[in-house]
Amino acid sequence: MSLVYLNGDFVALEEARISPLDRGFTFGDGVYEVIPVYNRRVFRLKEHLERLENSLKLIYMRNPLPVEEWKRILDRLVTENAGDDQSIYLQVTRGVSPRDHVFNDEMQATVFIMTKPLEQPDNSAGSAAIVRPDIRWQWCHIKAITLLPSVLLRHEASLSGAREAILVNQGLVTEGAASNVFICESGKVLTPPKSRQLLPGITRDLVIELLQQNGIECSEYPVPETQLRSADEIWITSSTQEIVPITVLDGEMVGSGQPGPLWQHAARIYRDFKQEFSQHRSSDV
Ligand SMILES: Cc1ncc(COP(=O)(O)O)c(C=O)c1O
Repeated sequence: MSLVYLNGDFVALEEARISPLDRGFTFGDGVYEVIPVYNRRVFRLKEHLERLENSLKLIYMRNPLPVEEWKRILDRLVTENAGDDQSIYLQVTRGVSPRDHVFNDEMQATVFIMTKPLEQPDNSAGSAAIVRPDIRWQWCHIKAITLLPSVLLRHEASLSGAREAILVNQGLVTEGAASNVFICESGKVLTPPKSRQLLPGITRDLVIELLQQNGIECSEYPVPETQLRSADEIWITSSTQEIVPITVLDGEMVGSGQPGPLWQHAARIYRDFKQEFSQHRSSDV
């Protein structure tokens, strides 16, 4: 049985019920987070809760729960659900209302949280990606549950045998449909700067921090599509996939067609950081 949290109650997933008039269902009116758990410790919790707070603010919602309450709920789910390593999915919608676009402050948010066991990714074989126009909206810095363009883009990628669609807006790389993008050129690492065109990935920030701490030059700089296509290495990052080397782009080899030396180095640094975290006894927050 998988235990979930729904609006104040801990129930079995099969028993959780929401109204069809929930605005998450009728409008996709809500935001979410995906947070990895290692050795039953929630990874980068502070950063995920800060991003959640920011997403809520940007859609004119108050955070329905104080930080201590979020921690208490997550702690119980992570303790009671299966797997030392898990992935938490949490979603906050504007709640139930008559189907009318207009909202007000009185609406009672719906909070839903589930977890599932997380397998440690093996990215060593490399993956394929396709390049597509960024057909999403102009506020991609909000982690909104409204994901139809991303669903269609990932579907297109999967039909091409690829793992991800890397998106281009006005000639510049923004991010992947469900990841951030890094490229390597002449021994240096580049990633597009934060803007409304991309999600401020928690993994992205951590990778930049770890690279810089380890003496690898990493800059936040606009990446034209032409630079992506001529890069020595391409990586995509996300909380559950970690750092994935893209070795084939639109059917063409990236660099040597194998995961590159900078990826090897970055993956090692990231693995060590995770290991250190999961062995540490004290709280991350
Ligand atoms: C559009 C998009 N960009 C980037 C990311 C990576 O974010 P994070 O590293 O916080 O998982 C995700 C994660 O799902 C995403 O959906």
